[in-house]
Amino acid sequence: MAGRSGGTTAGPKRASGLLSTRQEVTLLRLQPGQWRRWRELRLAALAESPHAFCTRLSDWQGDGDTEDRWRSRLAEVPCNLAANLGGRPCGMVSGTGPDSHGDAELLSLWVAPDARGRGVGDALVEAVAGWAEAEGAMVLVLTVRATNAAAISLYRRHGFADAGSVTRPDGEPADLRMTRPLAHPVPRPS
Ligand SMILES: CC(C)(COP(=O)(O)OP(=O)(O)OC[C@H]1O[C@@H](n2cnc3c(N)ncnc32)[C@H](O)[C@@H]1OP(=O)(O)O)[C@@H](O)C(=O)NCCC(=O)NCCS
Repeated sequence: MAGRSGGTTAGPKRASGLLSTRQEVTLLRLQPGQWRRWRELRLAALAESPHAFCTRLSDWQGDGDTEDRWRSRLAEVPCNLAANLGGRPCGMVSGTGPDSHGDAELLSLWVAPDARGRGVGDALVEAVAGWAEAEGAMVLVLTVRATNAAAISLYRRHGFADAGSVTRPDGEPADLRMTRPLAHPVPRPS
């Protein structure tokens, strides 16, 4: 799990006809002081995949691109993970909650295009699930564009099921809500 030094090792799932070497995926839990690292990944994500996120790149550029704001984002959201593949920064994810219903939320998942299909998404999703479980969450929830087939495929493979649609304020087709129950040890009788 991120935050510890141990990374997950995952080989490429798709060789795409090329000889590929096995590379290690390592995850790091970022603190507010590491805001530059988060900023670099987040700006790359918003530029590369504008349709995957509610936030727009322009919201975090210009006047919106300040050290205070990036630090606040990392301070307000309790779990922020950065992924490296073969030592290179290549992905990110966050987790919030759990709220009063026991729901934690996975958000801001992104893997750089040249690192896709290599287990980075798997490692990030499982790390947030592990974090949420350790925080006492009962369910991990997320919202994804209904047209985002790659992300939906990844989430289904990790035990998420469709849980209805979420209307978008901009009039675009509704997003998909997905949920995954989390395992909890049965409390011992006192
Ligand atoms: C969705 C995303 C995180 C998946 O990351 P990943 O590490 O490639 O995850 P996976 O290897 O499990 O691939 C997931 C799906 O992506 C597609 N995919 C796989 N390799 C790919 C590649 N090299 N290039 C593009 N898509 C690829 C496949 O459809 C795959 O589904 P499958 O395993 O059923 O074949 C990544 O594609 C991404 O960052 N997309 C843009 C941002 C985004 O959509 N974030 C989610 C917001 S809710």
